[in-house]
Amino acid sequence: MKNRRVCSNSPRKEAAGVWKRTPEPPFSCGRGQENFGAVVFFTMEIKTDVKESSLILLKQGAEARVFESDFVGRRSVIKERFSKKYRHPTLDSKITLKRLNAEARCMTKARRLGVSTPALYSVDPVLHTLTFEYVEGPSVKDILLEFGSHGIIEERLDDIALQIGDAIGKLHDGGLIHGDLTTSNMLLKSGTNQLVLIDFGLSFTSTLPEDKAVDLYVLERALLSMHSSCGNVMDRILAAYRKSSKQWSSTLNKLAQVRQRGRKRTMVG
Ligand SMILES: Nc1ncnc2c1ncn2[C@@H]1O[C@H](COP(=O)(O)OP(=O)(O)OP(=O)(O)O)[C@@H](O)[C@H]1O
Ligand SMILES: [Mg+2]
Repeated sequence: MKNRRVCSNSPRKEAAGVWKRTPEPPFSCGRGQENFGAVVFFTMEIKTDVKESSLILLKQGAEARVFESDFVGRRSVIKERFSKKYRHPTLDSKITLKRLNAEARCMTKARRLGVSTPALYSVDPVLHTLTFEYVEGPSVKDILLEFGSHGIIEERLDDIALQIGDAIGKLHDGGLIHGDLTTSNMLLKSGTNQLVLIDFGLSFTSTLPEDKAVDLYVLERALLSMHSSCGNVMDRILAAYRKSSKQWSSTLNKLAQVRQRGRKRTMVG
């Protein structure tokens, strides 16, 4: 269970209001024409007399704060990218907005590629926030830690590994690199156990086997360091990846090289 607290300095303090559906995205994405697919866009109409809905801090990171909130009656998550005080304010705002848009763009691209992600409800270029659907259910990290302490349920582990390998294969064949494949960035929907990928903050587009291999290597390292008591989960994931990705061969060849580089680095210190 996460340590939760109600946040008093919410990013919406001055902007408590009502959401209005808009026909166009309330932001520009910088790189020519953008297609956010079936995303519903809302802009916030400021109303000072509306009572602010409470925000619960889920995670305070180095780059972003993540809150649980309510979006027109739906449980939602707000991710706020904050500014870096050492940067010039104009430059800072530009960089933060670029990253915000990149995250929204990559997340919607993943969805288009058939990978389950939370629905994107809104992008606020002024407050630097993204609002998503709240996914009910544990993270893969929670489940694997539970397996580590109470014993593995083989069937469940197989299903999770299969879904992970399948999802990464779809991303990679579509030219999308997640960039932060850790077990805390993978949620399992309660009821259906469907895998949902989150946190596209470090994602980018690439078709290079090297980038795909590094993406897989990050996951391999995360599994080794956090979940070694679950056995070789990576092998199960890679078996599913081979079935899912048409370009698996070049990626896995590169992965072998990336592993070697990693080993050399560890030996040198
Ligand atoms: N849509 C969601 N539904 C439920 N919980 C979520 C959702 N999005 C995020 N969370 C929770 O908030 C945590 C942090 O979110 P996220 O991974 O996006 O941020 P972060 O790791 O701080 O991002 P970054 O790496 O870009 O700085 C997640 O590990 C998860 O527990
Ligand atoms: Mg994360």
